[in-house]
Amino acid sequence: MLEPELARAKVNLALHVTGRREDGYHLLDTLVVFPAIGDVLSVSAADELALVVDGPGAADLADTAHEANLVMRAARGMAEIAGPRAFGVTIRLEKHLPVAAGLGGGSADAAATIRMLARLWDIDVADPRVEALALTLGADVPMCLHSRPLRARGIGEAVEPVEIAGDLGILIVNPRVPVPTPSVFRALARRDNPAMREPVGSGRSDLIAHLRDSRNDLEPAAIAVEPLVARLLQDLHGLEGRLLARMSGSGATCFALFEHAEAARDAGRRLAAERPDWWIRSAPLA
Ligand code: C5P
Repeated sequence: MLEPELARAKVNLALHVTGRREDGYHLLDTLVVFPAIGDVLSVSAADELALVVDGPGAADLADTAHEANLVMRAARGMAEIAGPRAFGVTIRLEKHLPVAAGLGGGSADAAATIRMLARLWDIDVADPRVEALALTLGADVPMCLHSRPLRARGIGEAVEPVEIAGDLGILIVNPRVPVPTPSVFRALARRDNPAMREPVGSGRSDLIAHLRDSRNDLEPAAIAVEPLVARLLQDLHGLEGRLLARMSGSGATCFALFEHAEAARDAGRRLAAERPDWWIRSAPLA
């Protein structure tokens, strides 16, 4: 009926926690990319709205009722916006991304659902009601709606597209241990860190220098919650050819950047030989 939609993983190349709002949500300054690795969403005509979850990661969602799944909540919200233009569909979620991993998997699924149903029911994704729906579903959903390199501020909703230089490669590794985001934010020692500095230029060496000058402020808190993150980072720092290694989001997923995608893939193969149980993927950075 429609082309399938890729729900790309969200990787925070840098994530600074700069404050906290009165409602408890944290103010962020983050540089985000969306490599072509993710879940796959598709729709087929049906009498009413329904969800089917399959794929290698489906078992991780077995305890989540379909109505509570962000995909169904996004679909119900879009049906409300579409009004009489909405009709029944079965949404198929082919789950590949690890859950509670710092890759925004659930948010990416919700955003892909919004994009797909917007095409199907002829809704403008830039409609303020769609943007409002995205933010109600989660702080990461507005950035996942864009699914392109961007800088996000506020709690994640103030999105500004950026250009990412060169043909760098990224290796993304999850040790298959879920880490709940709220626990990591609770474990933060400081919530008033400096914002990211402005990048000096737009070349790839400028990007690497900019990233080395920035941080993921959630890293120490995530290591306190799940010490395996420290071991994973140590492994990534030890990989030949890595330009930078860091945690994404609230973890436990970490990434390493390489000169090109082939170098990231080769490093991934070497790591997989030592850590056969870990989830390891590589791709061009952007
Ligand atoms: O918005 P979302 O449901 O994805 O966020 C999950 C949890 O992460 C929130 O309940 C909150 O504890 C924490 N969070 C935060 N500040 C943000 C984003 C998330 O404190 N900007």
